[in-house]
Amino acid sequence: MCGIVGYIGHRDAYPIIIKGLQRLEYRGYDSAGIALYDGTDINLSKTKGKVDDLKNKSESSISLKGSLGIGHTRWATHGIPNDINSHPHYSNSGDLVIIHNGIIENYEAIKKELTTRGYTFESDTDTEVLVNLIEEVKNKEEVKLGKAVQIALNQVIGAYAIAVFDKQKPDEIVVAKLGSPLAIGIGKDEFFVASDASPFIEFTNNAVYLEDEEMAIIRLGKEIKLRKIKDDSIAYPLVQELQMNLEEIEKGGYDHFMLKEIYEQPRAIKDTYRGRLRAAQGIIKMAGVDENLEKFLNANRIIIVACGTSWHAGLVAEYIFEDLARIPVEVEYASEFRYRNPVITDKDVLIAISQSGETADTLAAIKLAKERGAFVFGVCNVVGSSIARETHAGAYTHAGPEIGVASTKAFTTQITVLTLLALKLAKEKGEFSESKFHEFLSELENIPSKVQTTLASNPLVEVIAQAYKDSDNCLYLGRGYNFPVALEGALKLKEISYIHAEGYPAAEMKHGPIALIDDQMPVIVIAPKKGHYEKVVSNIQEIKSRKGKIIAIVTAGDRQVTDLADHVIEVPETIESLSPLLTTIPLQLLSYHIAVMRGCNVDQPRNLAKSVTVE
Ligand code: AGP
Repeated sequence: MCGIVGYIGHRDAYPIIIKGLQRLEYRGYDSAGIALYDGTDINLSKTKGKVDDLKNKSESSISLKGSLGIGHTRWATHGIPNDINSHPHYSNSGDLVIIHNGIIENYEAIKKELTTRGYTFESDTDTEVLVNLIEEVKNKEEVKLGKAVQIALNQVIGAYAIAVFDKQKPDEIVVAKLGSPLAIGIGKDEFFVASDASPFIEFTNNAVYLEDEEMAIIRLGKEIKLRKIKDDSIAYPLVQELQMNLEEIEKGGYDHFMLKEIYEQPRAIKDTYRGRLRAAQGIIKMAGVDENLEKFLNANRIIIVACGTSWHAGLVAEYIFEDLARIPVEVEYASEFRYRNPVITDKDVLIAISQSGETADTLAAIKLAKERGAFVFGVCNVVGSSIARETHAGAYTHAGPEIGVASTKAFTTQITVLTLLALKLAKEKGEFSESKFHEFLSELENIPSKVQTTLASNPLVEVIAQAYKDSDNCLYLGRGYNFPVALEGALKLKEISYIHAEGYPAAEMKHGPIALIDDQMPVIVIAPKKGHYEKVVSNIQEIKSRKGKIIAIVTAGDRQVTDLADHVIEVPETIESLSPLLTTIPLQLLSYHIAVMRGCNVDQPRNLAKSVTVE
């Protein structure tokens, strides 16, 4: 996710854009830039770092005059965060300038074609390719900017929210949307463009939210001209009068970033496999893996190091890699691994999982593994983070910034990346028939909509939370793939509601924890149809006979567990190894609601930081 802001009107654009970018930093904050038209030329400033860094740089280096401008705060997807890769980007002529939130999946092919036509590129970004494609169309077809944008966008595959202007025609901004948000603020003799309404809500609460595959030519003194990108048909702007305040807008209308991020998971999982998974063609494309395939295929074992939620994602990956790819896996707490003098050889592959990419223990474990000859692969969410730079190769989760301290979309997108990797290796090793491979890939493509379906249980989860918000303790039980989900559910509850919670393999109950069961002990049991179901049913009966209260996560349509449990939350049926992507959702929601009901600070729980960069 990135933040985009544009302005055309009667005021100075600079202060509006800078302040708007500061409000959008929650969407991305690794680099920022601004382009202003001063009546004669475009003045552009951009930098790695935060919007404050951009402010300092701009105010000491460019003219800040002009009432037309665009600005961008970046969450890198293509090209590491640095000055050159920051937006805005010029076209080769210097006439056009663009900002973009999204991913152009086929940018390499377009870049190759433009290069043969003499275009040159400064940055590694897909966005610079797009602005030069627009310029090429504009020149070749001899059309205006709006038409050129429309023709160019019909040649790209991916997601975008863009704003672009031409210094040869400085009375308009052209915007377009597919898959990333874009709002137009309509003021008196002025227009605003932004990823959400927070940059312009203080100036106007009249807004038009573009629909997917819509574009708009915004011209001073004229009505907005809305078009369908595909066929140029006219679309009619629906002007909304916004009632949200600034804080509500930043949270997308949700009460907390954590809830917003829980609900972002269908989109986040799709962004994780976007450009990597082609189920119809039976292809998984992962650059960092393809270039190092032999290392994975010849590895004696895979060692996974991580902390917290990322460690739980690693445990799920252990089941997936061993079950599907038949590769031995060991999962280690990074903090233990780095100090226990582990045996590591150059036949080992170490996978480091980290949302922030800055966790000190994980970074130290990577360095130790590299010193002893292992090939190190990173799974991070923050492009250009320390861990991303320290590893030999990696794959980003593309989940977008995760602001809530409690990881949610980080967990599901990490599992998605690791599932893609395991499937790719399983196929390369001949562990999968073509048909089974295709079946798996198409089910993975169904997961976002199944997560969406699972989210619909939120009202039921809120009612259950009401019944257990005053508990002092809580047990989470799961088997197989869902044992790590039990651990993750317990971590979620304890870190944001401060209720003591423990996760256990369900079969472990009789080895001690069952002594804890009484009518005051809520037990969350993850019991999907596929996953040692009958064994879990008997665990539930053991708990029930000791008056334990049972909240069961079951496959939709379940009867047996439903008859036994005190509360049941259904998730759609899926392949067993994909079930953690669904069963974790109700547990995220349960911990969220209990924490809210207990008056806890959900987004910034006590004693915790979003990234543990110290030992
Ligand atoms: C989980 O909700 C916590 N935020 C915490 O356990 C976190 O997963 C852990 O600190 C690891 O962080 P990382 O993924 O950024 O390395």
